[in-house]
Amino acid sequence: MHCCKEKKSFVSRVIAIDGPAGAGKSTVAKKLATILKYAFLDTGAMYRALTLKALRQHVNLEDEHALTSLARQTVIDLEGDPMTLKVFLDGEDVSEEIRTLEVTNKTFYVARTPGVREIMVDWQRTIGGKKNVVVEGRDVTTVVFPCAYRKFYLDGNVEERAKRRLKELESKGQKIDAQQLLKEVVDRDQKDMTRKMGALKKAEDAIYIDSTPLTADQVVEKMLQYIKSE
Ligand code: C5P
Repeated sequence: MHCCKEKKSFVSRVIAIDGPAGAGKSTVAKKLATILKYAFLDTGAMYRALTLKALRQHVNLEDEHALTSLARQTVIDLEGDPMTLKVFLDGEDVSEEIRTLEVTNKTFYVARTPGVREIMVDWQRTIGGKKNVVVEGRDVTTVVFPCAYRKFYLDGNVEERAKRRLKELESKGQKIDAQQLLKEVVDRDQKDMTRKMGALKKAEDAIYIDSTPLTADQVVEKMLQYIKSE
């Protein structure tokens, strides 16, 4: 989709970043939001939080109707500064629990469910309509905010992305086999790119950045150049 004419007349400003797992979207989005004094909208955290609730309640993950109705009965809040964003599921802080391997690997069931995506997209648009946000996810440049002020597609070599994820998990004390993790990243990309609704793809007018040879700060620097350019 091409840029909307009204793009610059939005009351609030949206900077949207899509890309595959481990490309560094979260790190970069947090830094960017901090520099710009924008809020940070982590859409993946919302899908993860609903997955956690479904797992806890033993909802059949193949049952799209049950997942959609669960989403309708759920309140997910994102609170705090970008660097220390907390995720609340029905009032409970689940910021750590949504990052486990089990939640990561089961989120695709929730993410592929059209009824859930509709609800999530509504929530995300409501947040983005009220304040300036840096938002990251898989469909934020294509579906949620196609008219965002600036749109980026942050990519990266899959081995490098898996390495980054490994480091991140190890720093949190989680132990995982490197080969297994690589397989899971490839698998997650495949699922994110091929689902019927909200599939990950580069928006035609998104700026493509390959993060492979760059540090997070270098990616942020590049983005800031585009953001400041007219
Ligand atoms: O970005 P993160 O790894 O936290 O996302 C977890 C999962 O949530 C992704 O693999 C994807 O399946 C789903 N997701 C999505 N749409 C978004 C953000 C995340 O489907 N906008």
